[in-house]
Amino acid sequence: MSMTRSRAAIAAAAVSLSGIVMQNETSAQDAAPQTAQITIRLDQPARPISPDLFGIFFEDLNHAADGGLYAELIQNRSFDFQPNSRPTWNALTGWELLTRGSGKGNWAIDSALPIHRDNPTYVVLHVNDAGDGVGLRNEGFDGIAVKAGESYDVSFFARQLYMNQRWGAGSSIEGKPMPMIVRLESKEGAVLAEASLQVEGREWKKITCELKPTQSDANARFVVLATARGGVAMDEISLFPRATFRNRPNGLRADLAQALADLKPKFIRFPGGCLAHGNGLGNMYRWKDTIGPTETRKSQPNLWGYHQTMGLGYFEYFQFCEDIGAKPLPVVPAGVSCQNSGHTAGVGQQCLPMEEMPAYIQEVLDLIEWANGPATSTWGAKRAAAGHPEPFGLQYLGVGNEDHITPGFKERFKMIFDAVRAKHPEITVIGTVGPSPAGRDWEEGWKFANELNLPMVDEHYYESPEWYLKNLGRYDKYDRSKSKVYLGEYASRGNTLHNALAEAAYLTSLERNGDVVHLASYAPLLCKLGHVQWHPDLIYFTNTQVMPSVNYYVQQMFGVHAGQFYLPTDIATSENSEKSLLAVSSVRDKTSGDIILKLVNVAGNPVNAKVSMAGAKKVRPDAVVSVLSGDPLHVNHGDPRARDNVSPTAMIPRDSAMQVGADFDYTVPAHSFSVIRMRMGD
Ligand code: AHR
Repeated sequence: MSMTRSRAAIAAAAVSLSGIVMQNETSAQDAAPQTAQITIRLDQPARPISPDLFGIFFEDLNHAADGGLYAELIQNRSFDFQPNSRPTWNALTGWELLTRGSGKGNWAIDSALPIHRDNPTYVVLHVNDAGDGVGLRNEGFDGIAVKAGESYDVSFFARQLYMNQRWGAGSSIEGKPMPMIVRLESKEGAVLAEASLQVEGREWKKITCELKPTQSDANARFVVLATARGGVAMDEISLFPRATFRNRPNGLRADLAQALADLKPKFIRFPGGCLAHGNGLGNMYRWKDTIGPTETRKSQPNLWGYHQTMGLGYFEYFQFCEDIGAKPLPVVPAGVSCQNSGHTAGVGQQCLPMEEMPAYIQEVLDLIEWANGPATSTWGAKRAAAGHPEPFGLQYLGVGNEDHITPGFKERFKMIFDAVRAKHPEITVIGTVGPSPAGRDWEEGWKFANELNLPMVDEHYYESPEWYLKNLGRYDKYDRSKSKVYLGEYASRGNTLHNALAEAAYLTSLERNGDVVHLASYAPLLCKLGHVQWHPDLIYFTNTQVMPSVNYYVQQMFGVHAGQFYLPTDIATSENSEKSLLAVSSVRDKTSGDIILKLVNVAGNPVNAKVSMAGAKKVRPDAVVSVLSGDPLHVNHGDPRARDNVSPTAMIPRDSAMQVGADFDYTVPAHSFSVIRMRMGD
């Protein structure tokens, strides 16, 4: 996909719809202001907007979780990478054998006596000559970024195999622990932090210590060395910054999590995307494999071509939702795998055998009990044991992800839906209507949703900015008596300001239709530079930087300035205007009583707008306007394929004070999104 779009490509078609006036894009030479009259109809009934309209979609894609949001700094901590994730990978990927000074030794992967059956492989280290230490070095995910003076928690499981020699006399461990050193080192080997410890006994034991580097280093390494002759087994070697988001153990990278929190999302959908239904039946995301102590979780290949540790599992997702005041929206497979399974381009859907469906349905019901049941229930007790005795308050449950609507899918979906509805009528089940805004799966999906009377369905579409601008009236035409809509994945195929403005214009149409579109989330969310599998994304990052796209700021402006009531809004542009492309929505925030006017001008001419608040009792004069504007081709990040391609100039919204009243003037800048927040009363 191309990073930039030509100026010619951003010319827009002329369309006229209720609440929107769109005409042709102007040339740079002809940027005279246009005019518009905008009337906010406070004298007419307001329409309720779903309280959960704007949320986020999380999928471990582009290294969003491992190497990204999940704060673990060691790559392949459980020695379970396999070629089925990536052909060049094996159980020792990310690690190297270290022999320091005159040290001599070797290593191997073993599975004879694992910590847990779901974590079958571990590393064995044999030290023949200790020298200055024999051990392992981990490169992290593109290096390990550490900060001077901060605490890093090391933990690993280890057991002694023998001391001195491997076989025969002298191979006992009695009374002789294995002395070990753990370090943070620079790439060149300078010691940044060090701790000494020892491994003792033939049983697996968890060993922990703290490292506090004396210097910051964006590209450090983790080192563990044995310093006597003998053998040890090690597994689940972990290094975590103590300063995770909200200081949660096994938690999230603070700066990335904060960027998500700053969107003020009302919900978080997880774990995908295609990752949820998986690459074949054996690769479906099974939530039970992702809870409990991390060393007992069942990792598996990520359908996007790497490895999922499941360290960021269901408990961590739910906890994060709670921490930022967002509702959890887990998506479980509908008993079928992704239709692209096995690189089949749409014909690889596999269905769970019917005899496995009762157990699978029980797994879905158990998720609801795990999330919402009392701590005394079987699954609620597991949640409580993880440190959360109170229920999480699950309300939404997605079943299926843009599946091919086949007889096999329908049969299994209905079985799951019927069981959930019977046992948990309080849960809003969200169905799925394919990967496109129209076409066979969309039509069949909606027909099926109508047959089942589903509460909500999940629409997905990745289209051009022009498609969004031409379809601003899509939901005006939806039947209000049918299923509500979750626009679960959408994006306009680019990260320019122009893309972001097309999305902003579309979001005004979602606010206008907030009675039928109940939830919406841009996708995908995160992308680590150098690891792009899907572009565009909302936030780009490296190990040390977070680079929100321009599209991010649009999402944030809608999230921060959400309303619960849509106010009918009339808009008219000057009759001779051929050069404006304006989308507008007005909402009221229930808590503050504020009225929020959003204006999106996709065109190259400013618009002199006269705003009237028909029926307003008292408008306070002091308002705040936030404006995102500039070069329509601006992008906030460099080429995502290059690890270090960080753009120095981010386009962000600017806030300023402005005077308003029942009638006021506002010049909507060319290529801009403005949010005017007005206070009512004395
Ligand atoms: O968002 C990226 C992918 O797009 C999702 O995994 C899938 O649901 C969709 O096709």
